[in-house]
Amino acid sequence: MAGSAAPYARYNVAIVRDLADSLADQALRMNKDQEQRVDMEKARQEHKIYIDSLRSIQGLEVVELPGDSSLPDCVFVEDTAVVCGDTALLSRPGATSRRAEVNSVKQTLERLKFNIVEMKDETATLDGGDVLFTGKEFFVGLSSRTNQRGAQILADVFKDYAVSTVNVTGTLHLKTFCTMAGPDLIAIGSSVDAEKTLEQMLSLSDHSYSTLVLPDDEAANCVYLNSPEKGHILLHRTAKEFPESAKIFKSLVNYTLIPVSNTELAKVDGSLTCCSILLNKGA
Ligand code: GLY
Repeated sequence: MAGSAAPYARYNVAIVRDLADSLADQALRMNKDQEQRVDMEKARQEHKIYIDSLRSIQGLEVVELPGDSSLPDCVFVEDTAVVCGDTALLSRPGATSRRAEVNSVKQTLERLKFNIVEMKDETATLDGGDVLFTGKEFFVGLSSRTNQRGAQILADVFKDYAVSTVNVTGTLHLKTFCTMAGPDLIAIGSSVDAEKTLEQMLSLSDHSYSTLVLPDDEAANCVYLNSPEKGHILLHRTAKEFPESAKIFKSLVNYTLIPVSNTELAKVDGSLTCCSILLNKGA
């Protein structure tokens, strides 16, 4: 496995997938409150803006896969693969209803000529949403979807990097409340659960990181890219959704900020990072 020689988060391909028609009725959700029903029309509009935002980034090719109504959660492609350098580890999603989502992502990654490793061990589970790559190391969240064996397989595949596991409580995935907002900059929510997870990460790491603390856990899920033309680019939740967190994003210097609304997919536990796999083809 070759490590990435490119700067952190320098991507040239984004894989995204259209919404399944079955999403509103059948997507998995922690919050069973049916008042929180997904408005499919609005969800499609928001997803289009997300995809268009990625398309607007020069040098980023967006590969859009069709939705599949037999796979209600298929829009959340992040969970199906972890890609680093020239290697793609296809995951074994923790929810059995999501396992077949991996197939079309596998075909795409094969076409893009990544070295594919499949997680075949039937005792292992791993969702990509639980995997945070900082550029220096991996953190894997042990959650209701990802187990120790899944983390161990990831460590065996990406041997160039340290892999630490952290417990995730109170939310679906590690990245639901913790993502990278820049090189060595960890975005983290303010809940007790988020704080506990961050504490574990920092105590397990040999590297030093700065933190961007967001008042809202949901806002701590943002999408960072490093573009040759624009430098730091951050897709983040809007001021309308999270006004206090938006003020923190505005304080970032030399960033191109792209606010993206995610009110609908959030109802089925979808965050911004869930909706893409970002790759550096030819890294
Ligand atoms: N609805 C997203 C998930 O449960 O995986």
